[in-house]
Amino acid sequence: MSEVALLQLIGLGVIGTGIVILLFIQSRFPRVIGFVMIVLGIFSLTALSVPQMASLPPVEEKFDVANIKTANDMAVIGQKIFFSKGQCALCHSIGPSESARCPDLKGIGAKLSREFIYESLTQPQAYIYLDYRHEGPPKDYPARMAEIGVTGDPQPNKVLNEAKVRFALQSQYAYSCLDSVNVCQFVFGPAWHLYGMGQLAEVVQAVTGWPVTVDELMRVGERRLNMLRAYNAREGIDRSADTLPKKLQKALVGGKSDGILVTSEELEQAKDVYYAMAGWDVSTGTPTRAKLDELGLAWVADQLEA
Ligand code: HEC
Repeated sequence: MSEVALLQLIGLGVIGTGIVILLFIQSRFPRVIGFVMIVLGIFSLTALSVPQMASLPPVEEKFDVANIKTANDMAVIGQKIFFSKGQCALCHSIGPSESARCPDLKGIGAKLSREFIYESLTQPQAYIYLDYRHEGPPKDYPARMAEIGVTGDPQPNKVLNEAKVRFALQSQYAYSCLDSVNVCQFVFGPAWHLYGMGQLAEVVQAVTGWPVTVDELMRVGERRLNMLRAYNAREGIDRSADTLPKKLQKALVGGKSDGILVTSEELEQAKDVYYAMAGWDVSTGTPTRAKLDELGLAWVADQLEA
């Protein structure tokens, strides 16, 4: 007997008992209970008669490999998997569809290489389309970081070297500029896979009519960062406030990162490199007059010295 039929039988039993109570018992309390039983029973029977969506895993599929002779046999099996066990149709469509949120797979075999389709199925995260546009075969990502003077060369992990400090400083200039021109960092894309600084320059040009370049925008960010820093210096905040959470200075335990930590010597060394790169006084972490002059901020330097 199916689960639903069993529940229906129980429901009928409950209703029957309620009717028996109403028919044969006179005292009021059991009669109320009998009435409630009839109402609940009818309610359950009605609910059970509405077909429910199965929330079970899709049924297992079995194919006899010996019977697969032609390409057409393969296609038939593929179609079956696509719409049932594979659940591909949950996301994909074949042909344009209003409800599909994922690539339309019509003609995909002609568009993509065998290897790429295989990779899409076995390692879906291996390649995410730039700008989420699914037009034609995948292309290499343009190296957008190079626009801000950071090379794409992979750096050894667990080392706070000069290349990483440069990355931190240059991306700080870039993000400082994003803040200045009121562009949301999240819309920009965390890995710059949506927009890069080159496009930001185009946006600023389009809105203001100024022929700005990426270098000029980086300069805007740099100027802002220096002013923030000068403000802090005026309020008595210096190098000693540039710390990391204590948690990072405690060795991690277990797993691949076992024993990893940032020592305070490493941090202090990286700060030396950073301040020198930024044109700040290495002992205090305050922008030097030379740097402020260079940025057209002599008046800020005057205030700092006053
Ligand atoms: C949870 C939703 C989801 C399901 C289920 C799913 N896919 Fe995908 N699939 C995606 C997304 C999203 C992408 C695009 C990823 C990207 O941007 O690179 C994709 C990409 C692909 C691509 C590459 C398409 C292209 O234009 O490059 C193929 C081929 C593909 N899926 C086949 C399948 C098949 C076959 C199944 C069923 C076995 C399946 N997918 C199930 C979401 C899904």
